[in-house]
Amino acid sequence: MTTPLPQIPDGSHLLDDAERWSVDELRSRQLERLQTTVTSAYDNVPHYRAALDNIGVHPRDIHALEDVRHLPFTTKADLRDNYPFGMFAVPREQVVRVHASSGTTGKPTVVGYTRADIDTWASLVARSLRAAGARPGDVVHVAYGYGLFTGGLGAHYGAEKLGCTVVPMSGGQTEKQAQLLRDFGARVIMVTPSYFLSILDELDRQGVDARELPLSVGVFGAEPWTDLMRREIEERAGMHGTDIYGLSEVMGPGVAQECVETKDGLHIWEDHFYPEIVDPITGEPLPDGEVGELVFTSLTKQAMPVLRYRTRDLTRLLPGTARPGMRRMEKVTGRSDDLMIVRGVNVFPTQIEELVLGLPGLTPYFQCVLSRPGRLDELTVNVEAQDGVGDERRTALAAELTHEIKSRIGTSARVVVMDPGGIERSVGKARRIIDQRT
Ligand code: DLL
Repeated sequence: MTTPLPQIPDGSHLLDDAERWSVDELRSRQLERLQTTVTSAYDNVPHYRAALDNIGVHPRDIHALEDVRHLPFTTKADLRDNYPFGMFAVPREQVVRVHASSGTTGKPTVVGYTRADIDTWASLVARSLRAAGARPGDVVHVAYGYGLFTGGLGAHYGAEKLGCTVVPMSGGQTEKQAQLLRDFGARVIMVTPSYFLSILDELDRQGVDARELPLSVGVFGAEPWTDLMRREIEERAGMHGTDIYGLSEVMGPGVAQECVETKDGLHIWEDHFYPEIVDPITGEPLPDGEVGELVFTSLTKQAMPVLRYRTRDLTRLLPGTARPGMRRMEKVTGRSDDLMIVRGVNVFPTQIEELVLGLPGLTPYFQCVLSRPGRLDELTVNVEAQDGVGDERRTALAAELTHEIKSRIGTSARVVVMDPGGIERSVGKARRIIDQRT
């Protein structure tokens, strides 16, 4: 069965100038902006002045874009060490907003924005929304969390900037999410893919066929998700699923976005962020096309410029397609933090997601539990059965998934097929790994 997907109105007349720049034009703007950014970081942020002095690099030494590789890396630890406002390059009075990451342990990491930064951010989310197929005048339902997390407010300002009617729903209250989607007729939803599944379940429960709603475009991000998940969502909801990427340290949502016409990875808005891929262990730059850790240098941020920020996200850079001047990043398959090493075999939750989605009878709700009952690590995959799947079939599904994991990923795993509703639901980023080893 294939659900026909809605037509997307032509938006080519709405592109920003930068989306039409040639590669040469882009590179020359990037160099100018890089020089300004490094100068500001050096002049205004004691951390960067010390880091640059330490390795004997001065802003004057940046003559070409390639010189970016001489700059020091920035890590989350640097932000924590300079908690709360030590990374700001402008007086605190010029910072009109802060956001912060939750930080599972210790201090959160704080980021700040000037008025101009907020405006740039809104423009880039507006650009991302357009690339996803949103148009001025649309109703945009925002189900990313509002608050210190950048998802809600970042999405909100961008949708307003595009000229949309914004429904600032935030995360949670799933029944109400479903009701407002029906009553307000949103054409676009911005939400984590995992939470969108819960909303779809709720629509089912209310007896609503999501394919009958005006909903045409999903702008899904903030967590890794697979092409198979896209297919599942597009099929169930009769809408386009596109990927939006970002991180608070670099700005928030809207650093990169997939174009609806190609759905082939995310165009990085390179006029504002300079991407590199480095070897996650050695930090050595890798050529385009090779998988490694994504690193960003901000090119226009005023309040908190970042030099070579280590995202810990693994992907590779590819040439531009729908926006030929700007490079794409492949869908992020995982963070180095999410890498599970089970008896020497590397496993990402997205690999499990692909296998789970390939087995009819299982739902996309799953969790990986790591334990160490004896001296060796064990991986247990808890996954929910679909409604109406009986015990016998569940046993068979558990055996099939165990076999798939062994043969395709190469590690042993115990699979527990649970009742529908057995896996905790998140209203934002899904928790895919539960580590019980210590
Ligand atoms: O998650 C910003 C965001 C909000 C992006 C809404 C997209 C939509 P942080 O909380 O700082 O910011 O988390 C950033 O989330 O380093 C990735 O590991 C992950 N991430 C974000 N977008 C994607 C994506 C927001 N599209 C971290 N695919 C990043 C995979 C993503 N992982």
